[in-house]
Amino acid sequence: ARSNTVAQAAGKLYFGSATDNPFLNEDATYKAILSDNTLFGQLSPENAMKWDATEPEQGVFTFTNGDAIVALAQANGQIMRGHNTVWGSQLPSWVSDSGFDNATLISVMQNHVSTVIGHYKGQIDGWDVVNEPFNDDGTLASNVFFETIGPTYIDLALQAARAADPNAKLYINDFNIEGEGAKATAMVNLVSDLKSRGIPIDGIGLESHFILGEIPTTLQAQMEAFTALGVEVAVTELDIRMTLPETDALLAQQQTDYQTVVSACTAVADCVGVTVWEYTDKYSWVPSTFAGQGDADPWDENLEMKPAYDGIIAGFSS
Ligand code: G3I
Repeated sequence: ARSNTVAQAAGKLYFGSATDNPFLNEDATYKAILSDNTLFGQLSPENAMKWDATEPEQGVFTFTNGDAIVALAQANGQIMRGHNTVWGSQLPSWVSDSGFDNATLISVMQNHVSTVIGHYKGQIDGWDVVNEPFNDDGTLASNVFFETIGPTYIDLALQAARAADPNAKLYINDFNIEGEGAKATAMVNLVSDLKSRGIPIDGIGLESHFILGEIPTTLQAQMEAFTALGVEVAVTELDIRMTLPETDALLAQQQTDYQTVVSACTAVADCVGVTVWEYTDKYSWVPSTFAGQGDADPWDENLEMKPAYDGIIAGFSS
């Protein structure tokens, strides 16, 4: 069975993967697997559409890498997600260290959102317009936008995004919101407040960077709590990391965990799809961030399917 084929048979829009330009340019086998739309029906740019990549100097926009990924998706008949426009990380210093006043930073942020989303108008299914706005305790994270503009930076970013591409689904994307807790409650409260004030919001992205054996037991319930607000949800950055070295027992647990996550999305009508944050351990962000951990993805470093792949198939078939 093929992962995107079974996802669509389950009524989902896609099973997809994040990807990045260096890997596409240097690894033909990697690119060929990613281009198989029976396996992957959707792509997310791991870095190519972020602020430091798209507007490295004020008013100077570079879309080369993002355009290459969109062109690949279109050639393959794959849906694109956009990631991301407003986030406290991967900002060029002209934004993060500028000392811009409130009015100037609003204008800078609106121009960035309008230009990037406008450039891709009609080509993106869903945009992570605002990325990782919360701290784990549910307060709004300190970043240059919150500190300078205040909480309304979220409203202004979403409004600029809607104006730039009225047909794109507008998402807020975050981690540690995949189970009940203060951060998930804060997301419910934010989205409910946005909707009550008529601010455009269409989706909540559950990043889903999980630890082996620690999938939240309330994952499906939390998805349902989000969709009850009248928005869709997506699993946007799934990976399930283990403490190395890998063993058969750990791979079997990982298979179970992948099935658990995918089953939750399958069971929730308004969960539109599942994206892994790179399909292969060869290019995962995990080992460089968490020392001694890795092997988080459903294909191994030799680009061979792991037991986790069977968990994905089973999850869409449940
Ligand atoms: O572009 C530079 C390159 O010029 C330089 O030579 C190289 C040397 O280290 O670094 C390159 O930048 C790296 C960048 O990826 C592009 O490859 C950064 O060091 C590296 O930190 C960055 O990591 C990315 C990370 O976001 C940074 O925030 C990961 O690839 C990417 O997978 C990760 O993705 C995030 C999502 O956007 C949001 N949710 C969490 C997720 C995992 O951290």
